[in-house]
Amino acid sequence: MNVFALLRWSYKEGLRSSAKYSTISSFQGSESRKYVPRRAVLYVPGSDERKLQKIPSLGADCIVLDCEDGVALSRKNEARSKIRHLLQSREIDFSGKDCSVRVNSVESGLCEEDLREVLSASHLPDTLHLPKVESPDHLDWFADKLKSTLRSHKTAEKMRLIIFTESAMSLLKLPAICQRGIELSEETPFVLDGVVFGSDDFCADIGATRTNEAKELLYARQYVVMVAKAFKLQAIDLVYIDYKDLEGLRIQSEEGAGMGFTGKQVIHPGQVEVVQAAFSPKPQKVEWARELVQAFEDHQQQGKGAFTFRGHMIDMPLLLQARNIIQMASVTSK
Ligand code: COA
Ligand code: MG
Repeated sequence: MNVFALLRWSYKEGLRSSAKYSTISSFQGSESRKYVPRRAVLYVPGSDERKLQKIPSLGADCIVLDCEDGVALSRKNEARSKIRHLLQSREIDFSGKDCSVRVNSVESGLCEEDLREVLSASHLPDTLHLPKVESPDHLDWFADKLKSTLRSHKTAEKMRLIIFTESAMSLLKLPAICQRGIELSEETPFVLDGVVFGSDDFCADIGATRTNEAKELLYARQYVVMVAKAFKLQAIDLVYIDYKDLEGLRIQSEEGAGMGFTGKQVIHPGQVEVVQAAFSPKPQKVEWARELVQAFEDHQQQGKGAFTFRGHMIDMPLLLQARNIIQMASVTSK
């Protein structure tokens, strides 16, 4: 299939499947799955006991216990067994945060052992993160391994799955990857919930020079948001690696939120507050949205379609944006 055929196909498939999956934009009226906010997605290296002990004080919505790139190759076993212990003992309080584990990629040769060790704990994480998904086949492989790993596990609820797109080829195949993830969600112990843009691996892959302004990534970021949203999945933006530069982080976070990302990866606790603020609707915006929805309903009852609200023309797309804002405010204010 050439790229254009792939895009046409994925558009149709996205429409067909869109009703079933809940992101913030489809959450209104979504019947089954609750929306898990992931404004700041914080990596904690699984091999680092000191950092793991900090989890109760980390305010991020989503804590990622990392087996992948935050862990040296020589310490993979240590990371697995620390994460297993942490899940098993429940000594660390996640208090409502999304407790997630990032395993190594399918091609690393380490993923199967990660799953075996980490998921042998009697308590499973809420979410798994699978990096460097290069093709739909990777998800087939992962689903198989997950099924066999969990064969004897009594799981009450499915785990969420977040996949990473981190290379040019992965981005090209992203619609087909998302589609396969959604199909597999019907029959495996995971349900696909989001896509992360892995910008540093992507830059290395395409030979781009990484800058704080990230102009070199504009197209890729917009593309990832578009595809993720076509499949009603969360879209998680790049890491701002200059972690001491909070002003640069604020600018990039607000830019990502404005582009449609639902959250952002962070590597340091000092980044959490800035990122979560950027991905939370501002009180004035929530008030605007509530008033707009009310005005829309009043006009509908009077049989009017488009109307003027605070000097702007309002029609259905604006109403949908307003509903997104109200929904995001309700899940992030708890
Ligand atoms: N998770 C939990 N705690 C963290 C943390 C993290 N990701 N990053 C830093 N901390 C803690 C430190 O342990 C330190 O606590 P202490 O003062 O009690 O020792 C405190 O926050 C301040 O940290 P700081 O001294 O400023 O940074 P550092 O030199 O300890 O660590 C990094 C800097 C970048 C190495 C560290 O933030 C890190 O490992 N981040 C994750 C990197 C990663 O996972 N990369 C792969 C994904 S892209
Ligand atoms: Mg990466």
